[in-house]
Amino acid sequence: MSQITALAEGIYWVGAVDWNIRSFHGPAFSTHRGTTYNAYLVVDEKVALIDTVYGPFTEELVAKLKRVNDPVKIDYLVINHTESDHSGAFPAIMKLCPRARVLCTQRGYDSLKAHYNAEFDYTIVKSGDSISLGRRSLTFIEAPMLHWPDSMFTYVPEEALLLPNDAFGQHIATTNRFDDEVDIGLVMDEAAKYFANILMPFSNLILKKLEEIQKLGLNIKTIGPSHGIIWRRDPGRIIEAYSRWSESRGTAKAIIAYDTMWLSTEKMALAIMDGLVAGGAEVKLFKLSVSDRNDIIKEILDARAILVGSPTINNDILPVVSPLLDDLVGLRPKNKIGMAFGSYGWGGGAQKIIAERLKAAKIDLIEPGIAVQWVPTADDLQRCYELGREIAARIKD
Ligand code: FEO
Repeated sequence: MSQITALAEGIYWVGAVDWNIRSFHGPAFSTHRGTTYNAYLVVDEKVALIDTVYGPFTEELVAKLKRVNDPVKIDYLVINHTESDHSGAFPAIMKLCPRARVLCTQRGYDSLKAHYNAEFDYTIVKSGDSISLGRRSLTFIEAPMLHWPDSMFTYVPEEALLLPNDAFGQHIATTNRFDDEVDIGLVMDEAAKYFANILMPFSNLILKKLEEIQKLGLNIKTIGPSHGIIWRRDPGRIIEAYSRWSESRGTAKAIIAYDTMWLSTEKMALAIMDGLVAGGAEVKLFKLSVSDRNDIIKEILDARAILVGSPTINNDILPVVSPLLDDLVGLRPKNKIGMAFGSYGWGGGAQKIIAERLKAAKIDLIEPGIAVQWVPTADDLQRCYELGREIAARIKD
């Protein structure tokens, strides 16, 4: 079992490490490095538990709580967010401390009732509400759609500690808890993947929330998210990254995502890549049947062009190409240009279908893209190369 870790005097990480999870949200999100479910216990004159853990880790949470303090002494259970990975242990914890007050947003209350159908002593909190625990206090900041309507942040002003639940998190299982104990490049990589795959559609709301926090003048020395590493050496690093990712400034980088039947579309993809590189762009190329979709989406976060290719099969695109397009429609990446390309045999259609899906994802389409019948000739590949150069010029502009 992982070790209880103190963040400050009387404030403990009591969460759980899930070393073996490899997909999250069902099959929607790959978690190559596992994850953690972070819960925090504040022991003062009053005792507060902030968030719980995923249901299968309930015993581990209970064991940790018992080591620090008798769980019956918990006065407040704060539920920042009701998704099961954080509230799964909620009913079991409430059995141990049935008189505890449950603090959550109105939407949190609605969701907890729907999930667990149990009557407890609920108190609905709003932004700016605060409770005293003795020497420390908890202040609440509603954060709707970051990433659920119920989401909120809990702030401990006396310790300059922000507990924002999913925000600023990363799916990493480690024996370490803090950013100064691990490879920060790896942490930022996972934080980017988390943002791209979960928070990207809410970029505008994130920018507003960051502005609101700045206006509130919150002193933030430590950020304890609900997944992964706790930011204590440099919390500004992840705040700056969230601001940059939300603005979707992007760099001169293009993503080529494609698949191929008899290598014609692949030849086109490689020629487009050569043109992009010759034009000075960075390129990440992914054959979809051997690539992880969530990793591609992470790379899209700071790219400015998304080029998707498929041959035509049965008047449609290859089935392996569809999931990425579906994700893009849901995630609506900002400030991107896109293009469809691919080969066809007796009859075309894939290029048009891809173009429609890119439009549905609100990506600015480069018309007309390129479709080639049968096997690309040297002239066709030169056209692909020139197109790559043109796209490089656009994204470098
Ligand atoms: Fe929205 Fe970590 O759950």
